[in-house]
Amino acid sequence: MINVEPYRIKVVEPLRVSTRAQRQVALEAAGYNTFLLRSEDVFIDLLTDSGTSAMSSDQWAAMMRGDEAYAGSRSFFALEEAVRDVYGFPYVVPTHQGRGAEHLLSKILIKPGQYTPGNMYFTTTRAHQELAGATFVDVIGDAAHDATAPGDFKGDVDLAKLEKLIADVGPSQIAYVNVAVTVNMAGGQPVSLANLRAVSQLCHRHGILLWSDATRCAENAYFVQQREPGYADVPVAEILRQMMDCFDGCTMSGKKDNLVNIGGFLAMRDETILQHARELVVLYEGMPSYGGMAGRDMEAMATGIREMVDDDYIGHRVGQVAYLGGLLLEAGVPIAQPVGGHGVFLDARRFLPHLTQDAYPAQSLAAQLYLDSGVRAMERGIVSAGRDPRTGRNHTPHLELVRLTVPRRVYTDRHLEVVAESVIRLWDARAGIGGLEMTYEPATLRFFTARFRPLAGAGGH
Ligand code: F0G
Repeated sequence: MINVEPYRIKVVEPLRVSTRAQRQVALEAAGYNTFLLRSEDVFIDLLTDSGTSAMSSDQWAAMMRGDEAYAGSRSFFALEEAVRDVYGFPYVVPTHQGRGAEHLLSKILIKPGQYTPGNMYFTTTRAHQELAGATFVDVIGDAAHDATAPGDFKGDVDLAKLEKLIADVGPSQIAYVNVAVTVNMAGGQPVSLANLRAVSQLCHRHGILLWSDATRCAENAYFVQQREPGYADVPVAEILRQMMDCFDGCTMSGKKDNLVNIGGFLAMRDETILQHARELVVLYEGMPSYGGMAGRDMEAMATGIREMVDDDYIGHRVGQVAYLGGLLLEAGVPIAQPVGGHGVFLDARRFLPHLTQDAYPAQSLAAQLYLDSGVRAMERGIVSAGRDPRTGRNHTPHLELVRLTVPRRVYTDRHLEVVAESVIRLWDARAGIGGLEMTYEPATLRFFTARFRPLAGAGGH
């Protein structure tokens, strides 16, 4: 059957198509950084799937039930119940978004000098770990760093790498192990349940806590259902529970799989960690019963948590991303493969082989895509990777990608066809695309606000 939307559209938001001349002005004003564009200058916004979902009629109705009490809000208990039912964690501390939960967790679990292994870094996660004095160690399988390598579960942890780290530094020097499901920076690649169980056994044998970045956990559960032997007939909701059973807790950016525009949480099994989190959340976020969220936002999130594990919803969502990937593959455009859960990632190394990484090929490709059609994408390469805090040198990730992130329930397949058309046009004209140089570099998370200009003599402008 074709991948039909399991919903109909009740509210629409007009889009404006700009001219190339208008986009040239906007791009220069934004310093060739798509993060600095104004949304009204964008036609199809694939910057991120974060906080950009369309809420359901049930979620909007839930907003009206929001209990805005400063303490003991009914909406908090609705959220707690949804987290217990769907994730299986008994305790939850709401935060304003995912990084709020990462901040609390890093402060609670990390002693300076410790290590925080994970299956590839994520920008905000690693930044909070480093701020708390930890050193991040990448223990993902090598295939994840190769955009062309095949593999159903390229997000899997390489157990040998993790075992070696434990042997080298000793279990007491590992603050916790963090496993993201799916792996955003690897292109939305999933982790298998078999791997999660093996990592859980290894960690717990050594008395090491295992935490999940569960931001896109429903997408991961869907891939398990589709790809891992034995799960084809198991509902996504059940698979998600089995995944979460492997962990001591999770951080969650509700802005992705929870289908809300703002919010996040830290969930756990351990009461001591809960107590510590409640002490810190009042300092940094708000009372433990709202943690930076309005009551109505907690209601919408509680409803979204239940919707995200609906098999029809998640099948259509991941299928839509695959549709865009398929259009590009058919035209021979180099993308990270297999296509992941939340977006299609253009492989800028193969797209622009005439540019070296210090000419920011992915940043430049994202800028050219905007110029061509008003489609906004995001760099996920050397700019996002930032600098090593100890040496001050640039991280030089093997993956140099442009992320076309698909918001949930927002765009139609026709929109995605326009995106594909524009990317294919650039692919045909790739020889004329030049590089960029950075003119402003902020100290942390530079990709958000850095500014660029075309390299002198560069073509494509
Ligand atoms: N973990 C992952 C895997 C993420 O993708 C994000 C956010 C976070 C944590 C932080 O959550 O934004 O709610 O504070 N990713 C967004 C993105 C920004 O565009 O991929 P947050």
